[in-house]
Amino acid sequence: MCGIVGITSNKQVTSTIINSLKKLEYRGYDSAGIATLNNGFINEVKCEGRVDTLEKNLSQTNLKGTIGIGHVRWATHGIPSTINAHPHSSEKVSVVHNGIIENSTILKKYLIKKGHIFKSQTDTEVIVHLITEYLKKNNLKKSILKMLKKLHGSFALGIIFKDQPDLIIGARRGSPLAVGYGPNENYLGSDSYALKSMTNKISYLNDGEFCIIKKDQIEFFDSNGKKINKKILQLSSTENNYDKGEYKHYMAKEIEEQPLTIKNCVNEYIDKINSNINIFNFPWKSEEINSILLIGCGTAYHSCLMAKYWFEQITTLNVNVDIASEFRYRKNNFKKDTMYIFVSQSGETADTYAALDLCNKNNMKTCSVVNVVESSIARESKFVLPIHCGPEIGVASTKAFLGQMLVLYILCLKLSYMRKDINKKKYLEKINSLLSLSKLVKLSLETESKIQLVCSSFVNIKGCMFLGRGYSFPIALEGALKLKELAYVHAEGYPAGEMKHGPLALIEEGMPVVVLAPRDHYYKKTMSNMQEVIARGAKVLLITNKNKDEVHSENIWEKIEVENTSEDLLPFLITIPLQKLAYHSANKKGYDIDKPRNLAKSVTVE
Ligand code: F6R
Repeated sequence: MCGIVGITSNKQVTSTIINSLKKLEYRGYDSAGIATLNNGFINEVKCEGRVDTLEKNLSQTNLKGTIGIGHVRWATHGIPSTINAHPHSSEKVSVVHNGIIENSTILKKYLIKKGHIFKSQTDTEVIVHLITEYLKKNNLKKSILKMLKKLHGSFALGIIFKDQPDLIIGARRGSPLAVGYGPNENYLGSDSYALKSMTNKISYLNDGEFCIIKKDQIEFFDSNGKKINKKILQLSSTENNYDKGEYKHYMAKEIEEQPLTIKNCVNEYIDKINSNINIFNFPWKSEEINSILLIGCGTAYHSCLMAKYWFEQITTLNVNVDIASEFRYRKNNFKKDTMYIFVSQSGETADTYAALDLCNKNNMKTCSVVNVVESSIARESKFVLPIHCGPEIGVASTKAFLGQMLVLYILCLKLSYMRKDINKKKYLEKINSLLSLSKLVKLSLETESKIQLVCSSFVNIKGCMFLGRGYSFPIALEGALKLKELAYVHAEGYPAGEMKHGPLALIEEGMPVVVLAPRDHYYKKTMSNMQEVIARGAKVLLITNKNKDEVHSENIWEKIEVENTSEDLLPFLITIPLQKLAYHSANKKGYDIDKPRNLAKSVTVE
């Protein structure tokens, strides 16, 4: 999704802005641009497509300047094109924007009446003309305040001015924004990844705030223009050098990293000496919580759904799951004895953030499960459980999905034990199983060769289905989502027992159907549902676990077996072949695996 970079320095900034934009490529985008100020003139270079193209165009233009802003755009208002790419500039001012201005049509009409001429189809351009208009009669700060008050919607902004050779304005409402502190230069960025290659000292703007960045000073203001102080945070240096290494794609690397990320996460939460789960500073007493509502989007929603099955099985809590974009606009009966859990890899997803904000405003117990601990969702939750996965760059979530499930499972065990829903023996058994999870996930990676053989059957098809019951149902949804987003194949995840109520009509001769049937207590039922699709011509790829009992079924096309473990942990193991299936199917088609079409990593618009 859109990304912002801004730098004011006493050195030339173009190449640093380009490097920083490259760090933001993981977010998914369709055009890019940069504007600098040189000898009192704003100059822009923009293009449709990748930052590499922008870099090539720049090599022909010799864009100079010690102050500049850059942007990668994920189209919302107006098609992906050079003219719609940011920055948008007038003679006086240049703007980069993440988010959506909801009242742009009304503002545009007003500005056209005032004589402003619009070049693009974007909502962003109204910001440029509003500031230009207000600057006619007001000083800079007053113009910014007036412009911010006029805008409805969500935004993070970076703005430079013709008459200000050392000044960038940053402003946020809804969309995240950070500033970075450097030696003799300062920075603006839409997230810490944009800033990490330049500095590890950063501050985040809160909703409604804006800042004035100069090369030797940064000032912060609230929405009324009153000066405020900010803490400077020190970022860990471990994420600075995350690259693909020997892998062809980040996604391949991130799939292979899962044994390690699981191990790290288990080490963070499990006290092996005392066989206990360490969740420190949990702010509520267990008896204050009677129900749980898990909220997320996409893959994170699937990990919430998975957690519902565990919480229901292992605790006596009432558990519900919600899609953030639905939750935020429904009439909600907020309850004091509910813990609201927000799951988000990036911690910046606009819908999840809005759902959290709503719960905070109603003074609810909010907890987040995030990967990026400096993110907006982490900062604004009352309690945070990090998943300790390290950066996830591939747009399709893999290691974060396993990390989210793991942390939710650990929380479930801890609460269950605190509430005396399970006894000590069971608690210790379950902790013990967790200690071997990393090793078993590693063995699941060995399903690769078999997946490479079967994936050609998933490449040129009309559609396919992923079926599972119980613990395997959320994984079926996740497997289908991965294939959709990477290989652009229509795939449906479905509860296996629900097929006969309609979707069975889709099954035709030769249609690939992935059946998830580990030997849990749903196994026999799922096998019956598998027979129903085989009888109608489906080509079944069965994913199960190794077991002394053979699978007694005829006409299974292919079978993949993962290792054996407790029922609770089988979902982790059967996820791996599905990630690989999506990866190899997309790779066969030569698709851009780390940046699938139309998608973005950090979904900061609603
Ligand atoms: C799919 C995927 C998305 C994200 C969703 C939420 O592979 O990655 O469905 O899971 O956009 O993102 P986060 O977890 O950052 O809130």
